[in-house]
Amino acid sequence: MAVLEIRTYPDPVLKERGREVTEFGEELHRLLDDMADTMAKAEGLGLAANQVGETLRLFLMDVPDGEGQRTGIVEVINPRILARRGEIKYEEGCLSFPELYEPVIRANEVELAYQDRHGQEQRIKAKGLAAICIQHEFDHLEGITFLDRLSPLKRKVALRDYMRNNRDDIEEKQFRTKARAKRAEPQVVSPG
Ligand code: CO
Repeated sequence: MAVLEIRTYPDPVLKERGREVTEFGEELHRLLDDMADTMAKAEGLGLAANQVGETLRLFLMDVPDGEGQRTGIVEVINPRILARRGEIKYEEGCLSFPELYEPVIRANEVELAYQDRHGQEQRIKAKGLAAICIQHEFDHLEGITFLDRLSPLKRKVALRDYMRNNRDDIEEKQFRTKARAKRAEPQVVSPG
């Protein structure tokens, strides 16, 4: 179990679409456990794989029920949203956009089919905050963030504020992303 680094905007991994999960073994279980630790430490309600740098179609959700009690973490792998009903507006936040909150309109009810950590098919119906969380996390798997759900003007203003508030952090992270890219470059073997 380990706490992973949460990737924050403008990390390019947030725009990547996740790949289907095909292996339900130890490696997947370790990632899910690490993501659970990461989400708990950050006090998040949801966490998608690309937010920790893994472009896979999976997310965790930990949404309080009506009584304010936690329902426990649900591990959602290869999800499909089968139905959306109604409409709800809610002030959303995202662990990848620290301290940014914007109202987003989504469906108030969703039906979700997914696989659990053992590859078993599951289905849930969710309402309210749980439905919002599912749609927000599902978007992450498509490379879409909650800011993409705002009008162009609102998005522009929100991003400007975000960039201003996080300038130091962003500069440091961009430096680290470059270093990471450099490490990943193939070794150049000099000819001769
Ligand atoms: Co998010």
